[in-house]
Amino acid sequence: MSRTPRRRKLLILENDRALRKELEAIFADLDVVCGEVSEQALVVLRREEPDVVLLDLGPADEKSNAPGLELMRQILNLAPETKVIAMTEHDARELAVRAVGLGAADFYHKPVDAGVLSIVVRRAFRIRELEEENWRLREQTGSMALEGIVGVSDAMRSLCRAIEKVAPTNATVLILGESGTGKELLARALHRLSGRAHGPFVAINCAAIPDTLLESELFGYEKGAFTGATKRTQGKLELADGGTVFLDEIGEMPVSLQAKLLRVLQERTIERIGGRTPIPLDLRIVCATNRDLDALIAAGQFREDVFYRISEVTIRVPPLRERQGDCLLLAQFLLQQTAERFGRPTRSLSPDAIRAIQAHRWPGNVRELENRIKGAVIMAEGTVVTASDLGLQDPGEDPEYLNLRVARQRAEMQAVRQALAVARGNLSRASELLGVTRPTLYDLLEKHGIDASQFGRAAATANEQSS
Ligand SMILES: Nc1ncnc2c1ncn2[C@@H]1O[C@H](COP(=O)(O)OP(=O)(O)O)[C@@H](O)[C@H]1O
Ligand SMILES: [Mg+2]
Repeated sequence: MSRTPRRRKLLILENDRALRKELEAIFADLDVVCGEVSEQALVVLRREEPDVVLLDLGPADEKSNAPGLELMRQILNLAPETKVIAMTEHDARELAVRAVGLGAADFYHKPVDAGVLSIVVRRAFRIRELEEENWRLREQTGSMALEGIVGVSDAMRSLCRAIEKVAPTNATVLILGESGTGKELLARALHRLSGRAHGPFVAINCAAIPDTLLESELFGYEKGAFTGATKRTQGKLELADGGTVFLDEIGEMPVSLQAKLLRVLQERTIERIGGRTPIPLDLRIVCATNRDLDALIAAGQFREDVFYRISEVTIRVPPLRERQGDCLLLAQFLLQQTAERFGRPTRSLSPDAIRAIQAHRWPGNVRELENRIKGAVIMAEGTVVTASDLGLQDPGEDPEYLNLRVARQRAEMQAVRQALAVARGNLSRASELLGVTRPTLYDLLEKHGIDASQFGRAAATANEQSS
């Protein structure tokens, strides 16, 4: 994948000339433009299109207002993707909070410490880069993922290819994966892409229906077949005639019923309970489970012959934590979707939310992400969703380690890992993302004991498994 080289342009807006010079020197390795906190700054902004703006808000009044706030608002209005770092006097905490609420990417309290400020600024660049990367990939996704399925990881892309290939066939497909990974979503996509798209898609969750009812639910019954069978009733299989039936949580189906299912799989006919004539059906069958079917077979809880019939094609959906890059993209997608649904103005994720999302293990996969975003959209105060709105811990803000040396180390290590993840282990790309040379990157890998090849392998493994 080609990529235009980063400009990494920083606009410093500071009225104190001496300090402006000092700041310019700190960021000598970047493309720096300087200006004063005035209307003129907007002219510079338009001309230079900086990625990050370091803006001195000036002294706060009693109402936590400051001369630079209005300028910040205008900057974000003109170029909302710009990362503004609000610089304040050392005691202006409320002003800083206000600035973040208004859309600042981060804040920094004076006095200036070159090391710390450098971390803050570089982090802002990194977030901007990740966001751009995500937007860019998202634009491409139109042709890569399937409609309604968000994902840029290699795993998701090859999954979507597999679905496209298998959809037009009549093969029985088994979708394996943890809860909340999107198995049902994929089953629906498969149906939509098949020649049966105009027929029904009927989903049955075998775990949600009591064993005693599952049979009549699936097969239907004739009048008088059992007490309470007051009229002939069609089952879900019959209702899916001409379309696709999705048997979710197939691992939970009782063994006795599996015998009946086998007949459907072999002969494509059913008999209603209490009925004698076989009814031929034109069915596509798709099954899903989060259970280990091999183990169930070994334990005598799943029929091997049924397993072979349902797994003509097997598709494995990797857990969200193994899909490099998908987390943030999904978070942004879901954020927008949910905000729209609830009519909320929430627009973006705070830097700590981005860190937290990437560090979390997502045991509940996409469903968990969906729920957390929903909660956050409701809870968030301003337009920005923070880690705590998501109910997540910011992994970078463990108070035990808050001394400068360790904070620096940690920020550096995190930056390297993140870049490797985005670059999927590609070192030239990662060094580009980090704005360092390749030898510097090698030094960093050694210093932090990071194995870059792992980042490439994770994607490759997921790829193999799903094909
Ligand atoms: N790749 C994805 N893109 C967009 N939404 C997704 C994706 N994967 C899952 N979801 C959403 O997450 C939720 C859980 O997905 P679902 O298909 O029900 O998972 P499973 O059947 O594996 O438990 C659904 O609301 C689904 O729309
Ligand atoms: Mg499900």
